[in-house]
Amino acid sequence: MNMNESPYPPPPLAVKMAKRYAGHMNLYEVEHLREELLEELSRYAGVSRRSIDLFAGSSEAISIMLSLARASGVDVVLPHPTFFVVYELARAHGVRLVPVQLSGEDFELRAEELARRAGGRLVYLANPNNPTGNLLVEDAALVARLAARAKYLFLDEAYYEFSGTTFCSDAVELGNVAVLRSLSKAFSLAGARVGYVVASPEMLRALNSFRIGFEVPVISQAAALGALRSRGYASRVVEEVSKTREWFREKLLELGIPTPESRTNFVLAKLPTSCVKVQRRLRRMGFLVMCFDGVPELRRFRQYMRITVVRRDQMEAFLEAFRRALGKEI
Ligand SMILES: Cc1ncc(COP(=O)(O)O)c(C=O)c1O
Repeated sequence: MNMNESPYPPPPLAVKMAKRYAGHMNLYEVEHLREELLEELSRYAGVSRRSIDLFAGSSEAISIMLSLARASGVDVVLPHPTFFVVYELARAHGVRLVPVQLSGEDFELRAEELARRAGGRLVYLANPNNPTGNLLVEDAALVARLAARAKYLFLDEAYYEFSGTTFCSDAVELGNVAVLRSLSKAFSLAGARVGYVVASPEMLRALNSFRIGFEVPVISQAAALGALRSRGYASRVVEEVSKTREWFREKLLELGIPTPESRTNFVLAKLPTSCVKVQRRLRRMGFLVMCFDGVPELRRFRQYMRITVVRRDQMEAFLEAFRRALGKEI
């Protein structure tokens, strides 16, 4: 079982809509579909249609963020550790990263240091953060302060539905702030590749100058519209995952495994030994989990394991395997 991905299938209406639009694959764009989706998304995010645009997953927006940093000649300031993809793409783009260490066992944000380093640079902040799972910013005043100091501020809210905290309306007002959102998590559409960005029209224009505009396939747009019209489905997934996550975290704590509180669909467990060693044993038992050894910037976190929360029965089976894989180490 893959413990890096959600096992929840897409909402049935998403599948139905994708099938309905399969016959439109000869077209780059179906204007009315795109507009309906953008209208639906703007209602969902609580912003105007002019302040929202579609992206091929929030990953595309991250990639464009780095193109923007490179083209503007600015460094990227980011809490550390954060989403591994950013380190890898920044290296490929030739963008310099300025890490601000998260503090203590609970990975808290050093807001003062971040604000100090933000001056004239691009700030990337995943909120909640991956892989630590916690909300780094809950205060709109800090967002405003960072936006005032930075050239650009990118807030990655891929796990918004699990945290309930958003800065979408602040982003539109502040002008140089972009909020990145995804339908990959709560809406179970990771393979459709649909994300969106909420920002001022000027900021969206700056991001769109780095792409052609047909990046989100017509079928994926149809699936996204179906998913957004199945809000109840997403809410049930979030509720079930959050409940299972709390149960699983308690079990890890009972085993003496430090696991910070999470506001996402995964937990970060600090093992008494290297993650890779336990990962190998788990793989032999049929479970795939994530360690950080493969990313040079994250080698210091080699004792940490990221585990996606799947269904309760699957988590029970995983817990048993995890206990055996740790063996004498606990
Ligand atoms: C913080 C964060 N941002 C972005 C993404 C990518 O999401 P998407 O599937 O929308 O590209 C992920 C996926 O794991 C993530 O954890």
